[in-house]
Amino acid sequence: MSAPGESDVARFKRLAAERAVESIQPGMVVGLGSGSTAAFVVHRLAALRAEGKLSGVVGVPTSVGTEELARSLGVPLTTLEEHPVVDLTIDGADEVDSHLRLIKGGGGALLREKIVAQASRRVLIVVDAGKLSPRLGTHWPVPVEVLPFGWRSQALFLEGLGARITPRQGRDGTPYRTDQGNLVLDCAFGPLEHPEELAMRLEARAGIVEHGLFIGLTSELVVAGPDGVEHRR
Ligand code: 5RP
Repeated sequence: MSAPGESDVARFKRLAAERAVESIQPGMVVGLGSGSTAAFVVHRLAALRAEGKLSGVVGVPTSVGTEELARSLGVPLTTLEEHPVVDLTIDGADEVDSHLRLIKGGGGALLREKIVAQASRRVLIVVDAGKLSPRLGTHWPVPVEVLPFGWRSQALFLEGLGARITPRQGRDGTPYRTDQGNLVLDCAFGPLEHPEELAMRLEARAGIVEHGLFIGLTSELVVAGPDGVEHRR
């Protein structure tokens, strides 16, 4: 069922998020992703807790935005300092291929999202079917978080790897800053034949703090679309 005024895509995101929340058990430490799909997860988790379910669950937010949302809804939060191992992370993605490789970072939270994903026993990605892609890079650039120091050198390096660079802007037209105060260069490479190889090159470069290729981190996927909701493990 749709909420009043809800678009199809928003409904698919919500349905995927609601299915994913069924994987949360009482007492779990849960990584809370960032973005509009992950926000549906936080809302659903809050609603279930308000019904007295999922007692003892604590969330590890992956962005300031998610932290603020969770706090406003009364979802108990913790940190990786208190809980260095996360039982289950539920997060969205911008693009997903058939090997469960992802592009993330459309919301700029890629660094904390990857830290939390790497600290997680299970990573469940929730998407609407429009995010499924034959090849990463087909629909979405690879976000690359760079230190402000020397960022133009990183832009030249990335162009040398074949990217068309768009420095991300904030809503006010000034350079977008991540929660860590870094910049994001959106790198359009086109469809990627070897995302692992690109990931290794990006990881070898000083000044690149993180990139939005999430490879080998996803354990499960919930996809919602016109044909229904599917949980792939
Ligand atoms: C934020 C992310 C998001 O998960 C991704 O951009 C998907 O966002 P949405 O659920 O709003 O479509 O990686 O950094």
